[in-house]
Amino acid sequence: MSQKIILTGITTTGTPHIGNYVGAIRPAIDASGNPEALSFYFLADYHALVKCHDPGLLRQSTLEVAATWLALGLDTDTCVFYRQTDIPEIPELTWILTCIAAKGLLNRAHAYKAAVQENEAIKAKDPDKGINMGLFCYPILMAADILMFKASRVPVGKDQIQHLEMARDIAARFNHHYGPTFVLPEAVTDDKTAILQGLDGRKMSKSYNNTIPLFTPEKKLRKLIMKIKTNSQPPEEPKDPETCTLFQIFQAFADPAETHALRQRYRNGIAWGEMKQYLFEYLNDHLRKPRERYAELLEHPDHIEKILQEGARKARDYSQPFLSQIRRTIGIASLG
Ligand code: TRP
Repeated sequence: MSQKIILTGITTTGTPHIGNYVGAIRPAIDASGNPEALSFYFLADYHALVKCHDPGLLRQSTLEVAATWLALGLDTDTCVFYRQTDIPEIPELTWILTCIAAKGLLNRAHAYKAAVQENEAIKAKDPDKGINMGLFCYPILMAADILMFKASRVPVGKDQIQHLEMARDIAARFNHHYGPTFVLPEAVTDDKTAILQGLDGRKMSKSYNNTIPLFTPEKKLRKLIMKIKTNSQPPEEPKDPETCTLFQIFQAFADPAETHALRQRYRNGIAWGEMKQYLFEYLNDHLRKPRERYAELLEHPDHIEKILQEGARKARDYSQPFLSQIRRTIGIASLG
């Protein structure tokens, strides 16, 4: 295979916000247009199941995340866009890798260790209290996602680097024992992609409850922007754009000329109320079209389903023959 494979998974929990868009979704959609690489993007709903045991919510999140990517213009003809649970080869490979992975390796996973530490902090009798095996084995499932498609580059947030190291470790162990089979993947983290500040000035994150949902209705969008924390400088005083959340959000959407012009307005003094109104109008103009497409897509889940089925078919063109090869490699073969 000559084409480079880029792959990333999107956990289907929660409603995407503008921080997700700027930091992950937009760069991924841009990368999918690159003819030198083939991109695999998938909805990681098996991963979502580790934390979400509400069937309605799981289904709704999957629908919303899929609709978001499509509304923003992901071209599903040039990439492979699918739902993890539509690829039965993935859980099978997960089990095969589970039998290779060292338990000690998984004991060291950050997410598992943090859960144990929380139990220790509250002096729980069992340090594994409330921890399911899905959380413990999460990195093996993720390794299967990646190794199944021979991905060499995996764009992720910095919090996922350890998972990539584990995928490499598991792949190398397999290759060492059975012979060269898996491609060793590399994490791609990007220092240049913006990390947006949220309403309260901390990093925009679902866990801080300070986000601006990407497709929130116009009225709500205005309300949220009006809530963004600013300092107490009077209207006419020159202001520093670089430390300002309003400016930072604007910059993430605007082109360099627009950003330059706004920087001047900060230097000349711009009232916070005026800036908030300007940011609202700017964002609203940019989001109007995709927001309409998003609403339209949510009304037609059958259309989204069709796209996902088509994506699964394309993905399985890779996963089915590769899993057959892996089965033969490990000695699961017809006896006839
Ligand atoms: N764990 C990733 C996250 O929370 C999501 C994910 C699942 C993923 N499988 C993957 C990312 C495979 C990259 C490759 O962000």
